[in-house]
Amino acid sequence: MKRLLGEELKSYFKDPHGVPSWWRPEEGRYHFWHRQEFKILDAHLKREGGLALDAACGQGRFARYYARNGYVVKAFDINHRMLLTAAQRAAAEGVRHRIEFIEGDLERAPWRAEQFDLVSCMHALDHVTDVESAIGNLTAPLKKRGMLVVSFTPTACVYAWLRNLYTVLDRRRDGNVDVAQPFAFDRLMEVLARHQIAIRHVCGIGLTSSPQERIRFPVFVRRLFELMARLDLTVKPYHRDTWLAQHCSVVMIIGERA
Ligand SMILES: C[S@@+](CC[C@H](N)C(=O)[O-])C[C@H]1O[C@@H](n2cnc3c(N)ncnc32)[C@H](O)[C@@H]1O
Repeated sequence: MKRLLGEELKSYFKDPHGVPSWWRPEEGRYHFWHRQEFKILDAHLKREGGLALDAACGQGRFARYYARNGYVVKAFDINHRMLLTAAQRAAAEGVRHRIEFIEGDLERAPWRAEQFDLVSCMHALDHVTDVESAIGNLTAPLKKRGMLVVSFTPTACVYAWLRNLYTVLDRRRDGNVDVAQPFAFDRLMEVLARHQIAIRHVCGIGLTSSPQERIRFPVFVRRLFELMARLDLTVKPYHRDTWLAQHCSVVMIIGERA
């Protein structure tokens, strides 16, 4: 399986038939999984409102959540079609007037320093080539004591191991490309610390697997992973601030600009 990087990776994400065909966290089969992220935000979001930036917003589910919770939001994504869907959904929910949708790139930095009270980047750091510059671009526009919300997949989790095995075994299929990379937990913490982010909470979702529409396993394998994920979340909706939290399929960091 070919791993995409740099401009090739960006072209993949700009394609209107690429990511919009497999990233369906709100209406897809794995809605149950993606709901967990809002349980974490319900517990930790600062409610005083202000100006929020949702980077790589996709269909805008977090931008809309922040707008519903009192924030005025700027939301950007590299994929035009995702932004159109995001704007339609915001209008349907009556929060369109609180969100500005912009076409933009996480690895370029048009944002003025220290202007946002909240910056979030969910399920997208895994898709950039230069994570250090992406984190610099997310943290520089954050005000002091502003809240940072980011997610990633750590290298030391069952899902990352399965995923790596899949990329090795899947060499046969032409046209199937690898567009995501897990990160070592400690490395990401170091990068965040270098950018003056104090970690408030580490929340982890799912110890066993992370259901993915993009990954083309045989149907019975996908259903097995889905069953594992459902059992996992039934036992524990999410882990917080423990060793287990750092070893889940999706790790969500709640930080604050020092
Ligand atoms: C897996 S989706 C996550 C979307 C949204 N944050 C969510 O959690 O629902 C990843 C998103 O990142 C966007 N993306 C990928 N690379 C990007 C880049 N360099 N700059 C901005 N957006 C990017 C994709 O277009 C896609 O909408």
